[in-house]
Amino acid sequence: MHAHRPAVTGKPKILKFEGAYHGNHDYASFSQFPTAAANYPMATSDVGGVPQALQDTMMVAPYNDLDTVESILKEHAGEIAAIIAEPVQRIMFPRPGFLEGLRALADKYGVLLIFDEVVTGFRLSLGGAQGYFGIEPDLASYGKIVGGGGPLGCVGGRADLIDATNPARKGQADYAYINGTLHGNPIAAVAALATLKVLQAPGFYDEFHARADRFRAAFSDVLARRGVPAIVAGQASFWQFIGAEKEPVNQMDVLASNTKLTGELDHELLRNGVYVLPNVRRFFSAAHTDADLERAVDALDKACAAVSG
Ligand SMILES: Cc1ncc(COP(=O)(O)O)c(C=O)c1O
Repeated sequence: MHAHRPAVTGKPKILKFEGAYHGNHDYASFSQFPTAAANYPMATSDVGGVPQALQDTMMVAPYNDLDTVESILKEHAGEIAAIIAEPVQRIMFPRPGFLEGLRALADKYGVLLIFDEVVTGFRLSLGGAQGYFGIEPDLASYGKIVGGGGPLGCVGGRADLIDATNPARKGQADYAYINGTLHGNPIAAVAALATLKVLQAPGFYDEFHARADRFRAAFSDVLARRGVPAIVAGQASFWQFIGAEKEPVNQMDVLASNTKLTGELDHELLRNGVYVLPNVRRFFSAAHTDADLERAVDALDKACAAVSG
């Protein structure tokens, strides 16, 4: 929401991607948990208690689909302030050229590009998804990793946009007020500085991602050996079982996959002592060791045996 506010001081609407999660605030609560494809660009409300009037402020497109984004911009760029994207949407990595295309379309049609880096920031690389994919958005939001587990979030971006939040502008119509009880929390800020020190160690991400690759490969081997028709989707430290032959490229692919099977597999993992949120993308952590890998592989083997009956 704090990236949303400075963005919409000019035009009223935001274009988001179907199935993307941008927090629990009202504007973000459209087309978050779709059960069928939207009538693009009409966003669908899928959370109770959200004022219906806000529907008119959000538009939606399928992730990884530049053609649909461009057709929406062609017709509506005059009312769209920004495109907001999770650069890696849940477990779906951008197709080659997708983020570059978004940047180019945003420039072509005069709309802002916001990256929600709450998950990707500092997880994919020290420069977040921007550094990893080499694309610079106009605004970016951060949370989770940046606080090292503490309650911290940040918004960064172009100086002229961030200046909209400058308290010296209080009273002006385009002043984007941002404040909160925990803002600038000093304990979280100290945790963030300590986290950044760990992440800045030479070779940190290479080693971390190589370990994650080993985890994914070991899990894939177990699925194949046990004949469970699912894949281990993901790159870098992201992973999730998907009941399909190919990685999903949009939310409809995820819906079409065998979530009953992967949900059962995840529940069996839980029963065998590996904590995962069923059918939700999860991560390897820098704290995971090879011994954890062995335990997880053993648990997955038992989980596969249980679901294969
Ligand atoms: C991509 C993304 N954006 C935003 C949020 C919301 O963060 P918060 O709960 O701090 O509002 C989340 C939370 O999971 C997230 O995954």
